[in-house]
Amino acid sequence: MSINTVMVIGAGQMGSGIAQVCAQAGFSVYLNDLKQEFLDRGLSVIKKNLTRQVDKGRMQAEEMEKVLANLIPSTSLEDAKQVDLVIEAAVENMEVKTKIFNQLDEITPAHTILASNTSSLPITEIAAATKRPEKVIGMHFMNPVPVMKLVEIIRGLATTDEVYQAIEDMTKQLNKVPVEVEDFPGFVSNRILMPMINEAVYTLYEGVATKEAIDDVMKLGMNHPMGPLTLADFIGLDTCLYIMEILHEGFGDDKYRPCPLLRKYVKAGWLGKKTGKGFYEYA
Ligand code: NAI
Repeated sequence: MSINTVMVIGAGQMGSGIAQVCAQAGFSVYLNDLKQEFLDRGLSVIKKNLTRQVDKGRMQAEEMEKVLANLIPSTSLEDAKQVDLVIEAAVENMEVKTKIFNQLDEITPAHTILASNTSSLPITEIAAATKRPEKVIGMHFMNPVPVMKLVEIIRGLATTDEVYQAIEDMTKQLNKVPVEVEDFPGFVSNRILMPMINEAVYTLYEGVATKEAIDDVMKLGMNHPMGPLTLADFIGLDTCLYIMEILHEGFGDDKYRPCPLLRKYVKAGWLGKKTGKGFYEYA
């Protein structure tokens, strides 16, 4: 199962980062999105990141050109005919993902592995949209992709050892650290992170401490680089609420009940950094 050519679907925040690290590792990468303008935006982010590396003396200008030459823009899913691995990083929506996987199953050669970068949707359910569930797997990269070392590799119910091994090897080639995880709500990362954030919101809601105090306790007392409320603002409060709902529904346990204050902020449109206001204000 050798992987040489990859397609990344979605040239957004995650997809462009994934395409960049794959191209830097020497893979030929089709970067696919719905429209040319989305591809242009993703490619310009990649170019900016690489230029910064060159300016800092961490990369030669010729190497940057080589990396850029590994990227092939694509607005047609038919290009997936050419690839050994697809990493899907389109929007977090089960309908969109199952439609993409169903199409990929028709288009790609029989050996092609189909991976999803989903942060919360069940891999097993995505796999069920294909006739090759044994070749479907989760590759959960962290944001920002070029910086963060971890990739959670999620085994769907039918994923074979051979496919798992190929993806683990490939992740190491990307200079990332793979961690093996079974397919349960929130995997490991969000199952632990989101209840912590939710508990921080409850602590604020119940008036136990101010938002600054809550963040200071976790930063200075637990050595977290960022307090949980600040982190929630960076992730997006809508995303935090969405993942808490998946945990609550998936486990059926009220310990995952989203805090009413989190719901209220989301209803108000206070989604964090991206809207200029969440727990804190952003200029
Ligand atoms: P984004 O909104 O920045 O990018 C999504 C891109 O997918 C957009 O450019 C959009 O045009 C494109 N797209 C949508 N439907 C498509 C289709 N049918 N075919 C091709 N392209 C399509 O979203 P982001 O943040 O990059 O998230 C992508 C995925 O990564 C989601 O599943 C998300 O849950 C997951 N994720 C996000 C993280 C984050 O911190 N933002 C962290 C880890 C995973």
